[in-house]
Amino acid sequence: MSAAPLVLLVHGPNLNLLGERRPDVYGRDGLPAIEADVAAAANARGATVLGFQSNHEGALVDFLHEHRRRAAGVLLNAGALTHTSVALRDAIEAIAPPVVEVHLSNVHARESFRRRSLIAAVCAGQVAGLGRAGYAVAANLLLDRLGAPPARASGATLAP
Ligand code: DQA
Repeated sequence: MSAAPLVLLVHGPNLNLLGERRPDVYGRDGLPAIEADVAAAANARGATVLGFQSNHEGALVDFLHEHRRRAAGVLLNAGALTHTSVALRDAIEAIAPPVVEVHLSNVHARESFRRRSLIAAVCAGQVAGLGRAGYAVAANLLLDRLGAPPARASGATLAP
């Protein structure tokens, strides 16, 4: 049997403070809750997750490089580096695994500087504004793209 696909869950600056930083914008849940959501979504489809958070641009670039060959895909909330980092954009472009950009808040409805993403053009897609729930959405979109099997059927039926 081949190894379970590996999804990298990567968070940039200040996202270690989730739960206490602007809960009105980013919610009351911390990073461990988000990591658990993504792990549950991925595990249900036969994938595993490796989480990483750093406040340092170079550490994020190094992490993507280090795991580029064994990762099947990446979920990335680059935080403020989304709007500023050419280095992160180039790293995403340089690696083979598809990257889905995730934001808790609706960056398009906030300050004008948050509407510009330097990484969007090299990402497979973007999920923004769905809060914590957006991560499971993004994980499933990524796993669809990777050809992972659907989660076990729930037995749900439509009304007749
Ligand atoms: C964020 C949006 C960014 O503009 C901000 O700098 C963050 C969080 C989000 O998840 O909504 O740190 O990426």
